[in-house]
Amino acid sequence: MNELDMKEKMKKLDQVIETHKDQPGSLMPVLHETQEIFGYLPEEAQKKISKELNIPMAEIYGVATFYSRFTLKPRGEHTIGVCLGTACYVKNAQQVFERLQKELNVKPGDTTEDGKFTLEATRCLGCCGLAPVITIGEDVYGKLVPDDIPEILNKYR
Ligand code: FES
Repeated sequence: MNELDMKEKMKKLDQVIETHKDQPGSLMPVLHETQEIFGYLPEEAQKKISKELNIPMAEIYGVATFYSRFTLKPRGEHTIGVCLGTACYVKNAQQVFERLQKELNVKPGDTTEDGKFTLEATRCLGCCGLAPVITIGEDVYGKLVPDDIPEILNKYR
C-alpha cells in the first residue's frame, strides 16, 4: 500500500470512528469496517481506534486475534489453503505444504514479498476423496504430489 492510499484509508477510518464513537459496543463494528477498508487491521489503525474509542490496545488485539474474520497482516492477492485434515495428512499433505513454503519462500500464515500469495493451513475442506487437497482462492486442486506445485503456482503468477 503506498502512502497516499494509506492516508485515504486512514481518512475513511476517521469517518467510521466518528459514526460509531458514541454507540455502546462500538469496537466490533469499527474493527469490521477497518478490516473492509484495509483488508487487514494495520497497527496504525489499531492505535487510532484505541485512542479514539478509549479502549486499551490489548483488548483490541484480543478481539482481533479471537475472531478469524480479522487479520493482523496484509493478505496476498491469492490465499492458498493447504488442508492438513486427517485424510490429507496421511496422503502426505505436509510434504505439499513444505514444497509450497519453499517455492514461495514464506512461512505458514505469511504473505509473499510481492503480495501475490498468502499461505495457510486449513482444516478438512470436505473433499477428502481428493486428498491431499489445496485451494487457491476458489480453485481446488487434489491428489497432489509436491512436484505438481510449481506448475500450479505458475498459473497465478
Ligand atoms: S482431510 Fe483434507 S479434504 Fe478432508
